[in-house]
Amino acid sequence: MKKSSSKIGRNDPCPCGSGLKYKKCCMGKKEVSAEYRANLYARQHNIRVKTEKDIEAIRKAGRLTVATLDLVESKIRPGISTEEINTLVHEFTIKNGAIPAPLNYRGFPKSVCTSVNEVICHGIPGKRILKDGDIVNIDVTPILNGYYADANKTFFVGEPGPDAKKIVAVAGECLKQGMEMVRPDATIGDIGWAIQKYAEDQGCSVVREFVGHGVGFEFHEAPQIPHYGRRKSGLVLIPGMVFTIEPMINIGRHNLYILDDGWTAVTEDGSLSAQFEQTLVVTEDGVKSLTPFKL
Ligand code: MF3
Ligand code: CO
Ligand code: CO
Repeated sequence: MKKSSSKIGRNDPCPCGSGLKYKKCCMGKKEVSAEYRANLYARQHNIRVKTEKDIEAIRKAGRLTVATLDLVESKIRPGISTEEINTLVHEFTIKNGAIPAPLNYRGFPKSVCTSVNEVICHGIPGKRILKDGDIVNIDVTPILNGYYADANKTFFVGEPGPDAKKIVAVAGECLKQGMEMVRPDATIGDIGWAIQKYAEDQGCSVVREFVGHGVGFEFHEAPQIPHYGRRKSGLVLIPGMVFTIEPMINIGRHNLYILDDGWTAVTEDGSLSAQFEQTLVVTEDGVKSLTPFKL
């Protein structure tokens, strides 16, 4: 359906925005301008490449995202409920002049996702009390001045057992491995390939149903960033693209199902699942995190 718009005719206006005809401007040029490529990505892939100003605004939102994760980390201990974590995140977000993006997003009822143990993602805060040895992923996305920054971390509650230690370490390293692939001219497939290789070499598995995503102007934008895949496949990355990488890694099999609440994704085999997420920008020579934390 969108095919017709992806082919640029010789006499069409040049997508670089010069006002000239394509044939009189960028057609056939080897080195195309950044604007040309940004316009092409918008037309062909619905990808909204960000300006320096946009990136600075997302970085500001990202500082709040990371501060929120730090606040939650300082409060997590056996005995706290996921509802209390929700209250903490909600109030901190509002106090800082932002809006919690999850609240009412496609009907999601709370301000943060809290995913415990075998919950892969989209856990809904409620009465559940965290206990010693649990792992819990906290996924935070404020909207600050209209800009979104999305990040998550998996925390230990009390003292972790060996499986908890392992899956959290592997998931963190998977995000790192994915981030290390990001630079102009790498592909989206390179990211998934690096993550899948590391996870499977460690005897773990990669969730297929949920992917990273463009972010910044909206919660979920194009493109999708799978956490599995083949090298040199998929779209080429260009500077100014802003997206998340957020691998969900299971200690058992990758299969999942969704609970009757319509949100909570859990491992089919009941095995532990962990995740880390950051919002990243492709720079001229690599990648910068807009929600930086140590991995
Ligand atoms: N923060 C999640 C992500 O990383 C999305 C959560 S959607 C919600 O993409 F509705 F559950 F909040
Ligand atoms: Co995300
Ligand atoms: Co998220």
